[in-house]
Amino acid sequence: MKKALKISGIVLSIIIIIAIIGAVYINSKGIPSYPVEKIEYKIYSTPSGIERGKKLAMMLCVNCHSDPKTGKLTGTQMLDAPTEFGKIFSANITQDKTYGIGDWTDAELMYLLRTGIKRDGKYAPPYMAKLPNMADEDIEAIIAFLRSDDPIVAADATEDFPTEPSLLTKFLCMVAFKPLPMPTQEIILPDTTDKIALGKYLSHNLECFSCHSSDFKTNNFLTPELSEGYFGGGNKPLNRKGEVMLTANLTPDMETGIGSWSEAKFIKALKYGIKEGEEALRYPMVPYPMLSDAEARAIYEYLKTIPPINNKVERSGME
Ligand code: HEC
Ligand code: HEC
Repeated sequence: MKKALKISGIVLSIIIIIAIIGAVYINSKGIPSYPVEKIEYKIYSTPSGIERGKKLAMMLCVNCHSDPKTGKLTGTQMLDAPTEFGKIFSANITQDKTYGIGDWTDAELMYLLRTGIKRDGKYAPPYMAKLPNMADEDIEAIIAFLRSDDPIVAADATEDFPTEPSLLTKFLCMVAFKPLPMPTQEIILPDTTDKIALGKYLSHNLECFSCHSSDFKTNNFLTPELSEGYFGGGNKPLNRKGEVMLTANLTPDMETGIGSWSEAKFIKALKYGIKEGEEALRYPMVPYPMLSDAEARAIYEYLKTIPPINNKVERSGME
């Protein structure tokens, strides 16, 4: 008996030592690096492209990169990132050459937005957006906007802070979160007269599916339809106080989804955050007033065509 205890004690000590060595190793290696493929990319900037890029950036980038202190995209601490991931700071992405992206090339920006690999080869962990399915033209528009004379991207030498990823983030970036492949072919915009195709494109590329499916961990970013509980809600993003804000079921299920919603009710909720007879929608669901009615309608039409999921989600903080 005594001997058995002694042996299991030794085994336990060995396991603990291996775990400590593993943790020290992961911690010192940090976020993994990848080879940076040299791609050719030079964007062609037009006033209408910049306008479209601004509209997309307002919906996709500004929430995270906007700094309340400067009112520009100089980066800030992301209080809505789960604390298990560490202390996360979004970067300064104004045109400043020291702290911002003033000396990044178009190709470097394109490569990061597609794959998640920064120009120094470091992988930008999952809390930074990736756009594997967005049309080339739309990503070019976003880059054109970042280079434009819009005041929120004008060079601003506000120092940004490096993210302090936790051991868990480093570990997950080694084993689970991997860069996405650089597309080998041009991705073209959907035909805007095909409402369903447009709605699908928008609901995937504006990341609606990412919050509104079951869980960030089981999302499929390359083929969003394969995400677990696709648009069935119940995912748990946080607000800026770190509280869970359950996401709504947007499938056409009559009882628990938006099956019984009129188009007008959906557009009001999406564009202005208004829900008749209820409290307005709250962060991280931000209103999308920049969507045209035709675009909002297209999303509604598309959601009507996806498989219904019966999943009742109570709104957070409403008891
Ligand atoms: C959910 C929050 C979030 C969203 C949305 C987001 N970013 Fe980021 N971004 C980050 C964080 C956090 C970092 C820092 C990543 C790191 O620590 O490696 C970052 C890094 C970057 C960098 C690298 C800057 C540098 O100096 O290393 C660029 C460029 C960038 N983001 C551009 C964008 C653009 C353009 C968009 C919109 C299409 C966008 N981001 C959307 C959070 C976000
Ligand atoms: C960052 C995560 C996030 C993103 C991205 C997001 N949503 Fe939401 N959405 C939420 C949350 C959380 C709620 C619930 C908010 C509340 O309870 O106040 C919500 C609520 C809604 C509602 C109200 C549904 C109901 O039953 O009350 C609609 C409609 C909606 N979202 C549509 C969209 C569409 C369309 C997109 C993409 C353009 C989108 N959302 C993107 C998190 C998100």
